[in-house]
Amino acid sequence: MGTSSCWICPTHRLPVPVRSWWRSRRPEWERGIGCSTTPAGRWGCGLRRRWEWRARAGCWRSRRPKHLSRYFDGSKTIPDETLQQLLRFLRSAPTSTNIQPNHFYVVSTQEVKERLAANLGERFQDNAEKILNASHTIILTTRVDVPEHHLEAVFAKERADGRFADEAKQERWESMTRDFVSLRKYSYKDTYHWMEKQTYMVMGLTMMAAAELGVEAMPLEGFDPISVDKAFNIRATGYTTTVLLALGYPDEAKQYKTPVSRFEPERLFTFA
Ligand SMILES: Cc1cc2nc3c(=O)[nH]c(=O)nc-3n(C[C@H](O)[C@H](O)[C@H](O)COP(=O)(O)O)c2cc1C
Repeated sequence: MGTSSCWICPTHRLPVPVRSWWRSRRPEWERGIGCSTTPAGRWGCGLRRRWEWRARAGCWRSRRPKHLSRYFDGSKTIPDETLQQLLRFLRSAPTSTNIQPNHFYVVSTQEVKERLAANLGERFQDNAEKILNASHTIILTTRVDVPEHHLEAVFAKERADGRFADEAKQERWESMTRDFVSLRKYSYKDTYHWMEKQTYMVMGLTMMAAAELGVEAMPLEGFDPISVDKAFNIRATGYTTTVLLALGYPDEAKQYKTPVSRFEPERLFTFA
């Protein structure tokens, strides 16, 4: 799997299969956003143009990696259309065996932001300000197990959506999925961990989508899940909180301007 050398557009740095997947999500997006082939059939990239424009304008991304935004401008709200695009993308993110183990709480009202901020747990109070000033925060929750009724719901939706052209294929898929789920449960004994990994992947993809839409996304692991679950009565639903994703627009005055610190490529990559 090769990667291109484009330093502007992150999707151009993605391995080809991921790029294809990304492009296949394009119908979920507004026109002009996301990589797409031009009528001429070459790699035309709305995203790349957008990034170049922003880099030139100096108003958003530059070619240098930037710090995650810890501080949001509390006076700015994500327009509903942008939020809906982001949620459409979030919904379209793939999960292993299409298990779809998540439920997302989209927090935007002052009252609920305050409830979340007040229930992060004592040691995580410095994250409260981030949530209060973010336009929205998504509470990403994950199923604690895979009960039969969840599998049935996945299969019923796949059938209703016509995921497989013929019945035999759907049946084979269901049998394979059941097999895989029971492998996780009885052999690897990691059902919840497996599903949480899906949640993190969904979050990562959503962060990329947010960047593309000009929205800052800040993942937050600094919270007490017991406390958040309790405040939102989450456990009664069979889910538990995995991670938070604060979304909004940066408070420019408080952005870190120091260099981003990452290991050198030699330490990170082995080209074999
Ligand atoms: C999954 C994840 C969870 C994080 N949780 C928090 C958090 O709770 N609070 C916080 O201030 N920063 C949090 N961060 C930010 C990281 O600490 C930060 O990205 C890292 O130190 C690198 O800094 P940089 O983004 O400025 O380069 C989180 C980052 C990730 C990827």
